Amino acid sequence: MCGIVGYVGEKPALDVVLEGLRRLEYRGYDSAGVAVVADGSIVSEKRAGKLTNLEKALAERASANDPLGTATTGIGHTRWATHGPPNDVNAHPHLSADGSVAVIHNGIIENFATLRAELTDAGVELRSDTDTEVVAHLLAGAYGMHHDLAEAMRAVCRRLEGAFTLLAVQRDHPEMVVGARRSSPLVVGTGDGEYFLGSDVAAFIAHTRDAIELGQDQVVTITRDGVTITDFNGAPAEGKRYHVDWDAAAAEKGGYPNFMLKEIADQPQAVADTLLGRMDARGNLALDELRMNEDELRAIDKIVIVACGTAYYAGLVAKYVLEHYTRIPCEVELASEFRYRDPILTHRTLVVAISQSGETMDTLMAVRHAGEQGSRVLAICNTNGSTIPRESDAVLYTHAGPEIAVASTKGFLAQVTACYLLGLYLGKLRGDFFADEVRAIMAQLGEAPAAIQQVLDDTSQVEALARELADNRVILFLGRHVGFPVALEGALKLKELAYIHAEGFAAGELKHGPIALVEEGLPVLCVVPPRGRDQLHDKMISGIQEIRARGARTICLAEEGDETIVPYADVLLTLPKVPVLLQPLVATVPLQLFACELATLMGHDVDQPRNLAKSVTVE
Ligand code: M6R
Repeated sequence: MCGIVGYVGEKPALDVVLEGLRRLEYRGYDSAGVAVVADGSIVSEKRAGKLTNLEKALAERASANDPLGTATTGIGHTRWATHGPPNDVNAHPHLSADGSVAVIHNGIIENFATLRAELTDAGVELRSDTDTEVVAHLLAGAYGMHHDLAEAMRAVCRRLEGAFTLLAVQRDHPEMVVGARRSSPLVVGTGDGEYFLGSDVAAFIAHTRDAIELGQDQVVTITRDGVTITDFNGAPAEGKRYHVDWDAAAAEKGGYPNFMLKEIADQPQAVADTLLGRMDARGNLALDELRMNEDELRAIDKIVIVACGTAYYAGLVAKYVLEHYTRIPCEVELASEFRYRDPILTHRTLVVAISQSGETMDTLMAVRHAGEQGSRVLAICNTNGSTIPRESDAVLYTHAGPEIAVASTKGFLAQVTACYLLGLYLGKLRGDFFADEVRAIMAQLGEAPAAIQQVLDDTSQVEALARELADNRVILFLGRHVGFPVALEGALKLKELAYIHAEGFAAGELKHGPIALVEEGLPVLCVVPPRGRDQLHDKMISGIQEIRARGARTICLAEEGDETIVPYADVLLTLPKVPVLLQPLVATVPLQLFACELATLMGHDVDQPRNLAKSVTVE
């Protein structure tokens, strides 16, 4: 939701913090701010709007003696507003009334109204509408009692309810940043004589790839001498050290005009990397990281997938795949609804939480609820060391590399790929597949990266389509079977990037209501299943005929060589031939490109669409 950076070292803190904020801006971009500790005081600057507004303000005030430029300890924040509109005052950092403490925060402090009233009664004048400002005042008060910033932070955290990552600096400690986390992300970067704190490793990837994962309810202190971690009561704690397996270049645009296009282009590699090393010579899937008891997995009688947004659509694809491969009933739940409807879970239910970031609060809460009910939880996640895998019983990592654009693309294809692996693994384990069958499907999956590349090699038709449809304000998407979640995903991409009213429908459902929306010239993108032994393809053509009869302009995505679709397509986009269950891997790509292109033509910022943030760390 918000991006957080902290630094202690020898370099000018402002440079390090701003560089970190540039890499974290995808987490929130309503406003941004920094604070440094210099000469016994805190110096801060903050601005509403994107990071460039802050950078302009900093450039205007820059002078040789400005402590903002010379200090070597600092914190920075890029905001996605929850409490109070995105203006200069509500931007972080928030300073205590006496200016001794500066605080930045990600998350929501649920008891902030009580704390605010308490402070107001005590005569403190609150300047902003945020929940964060109370922490700055409380922290200054606690520091007055303990004269120890970490102890003050622990005392304040014990009073806070909700989810939060906090970083604080205090004017008497020119070489110290203290952080705290509860249900919200915070990682430590360890360099040589310099230490970093960040919402994720992108914050410091340009400086170090050595990181420490913090646990729940921990307080961390970084100084030039090292890192100290405790729980909220002061008991010493250990973080888990790890090495980040990607570098700064992976988190850059690499010559593309935006991250989204780069990440769309990364997809063959993302799928290949997610498959890499996961099958041995005997056709056994080597999902070592699962470390789940095989007897327990054999005894599963239900799979429940929980996820949000694009990850939820990956879950919808997975339902078809898992039920087909394993014959285990599979439900897919919006994580935000899951725990509120009292779901039926037992120790024989496998809950699969899908999340690119591993930090989505709705999904995290669903994971916790499933654990409380005694179910085993498996995370499918792209972010090493993030909260959801850490709180799950097992994890199957996707290896898509960092996804920076707010709209998920390679994250989705990697999630879908991981679901195929999971389905094959469970199917083999439970005796539904022989090794040679697994090998055959793995071979088909192994061809997917080349098929995706084929879609990417010629984007001219999709670009022309985007130009043609750029003035439309309603666009529909139709699919059947695994093409239905693809239609939903295509519509979501268009909504979030182009702010167009786009809806995805199951083709067979259209005649039960939504067909009333169809009018002369309405563009409908139709994901046509490959021809096979089932009737999917022909049923889809019937659906397309129904909408054409009512004036729809049909844009059909169909496999190459499918001549039967030609009479029903105003525009035909061909897809490489793949088996029906694998079609989402190729059919999603033109829809991503279409949304990206159309939004770009409309002049929108595709990496940072309005009102959104990359990882949604509030419920
Ligand atoms: O990080 P997650 O996969 O848990 O995120 C879930 C959704 O918030 C995310 O997929 C969102 O819908 C994207 N903006 C879609 O492009």
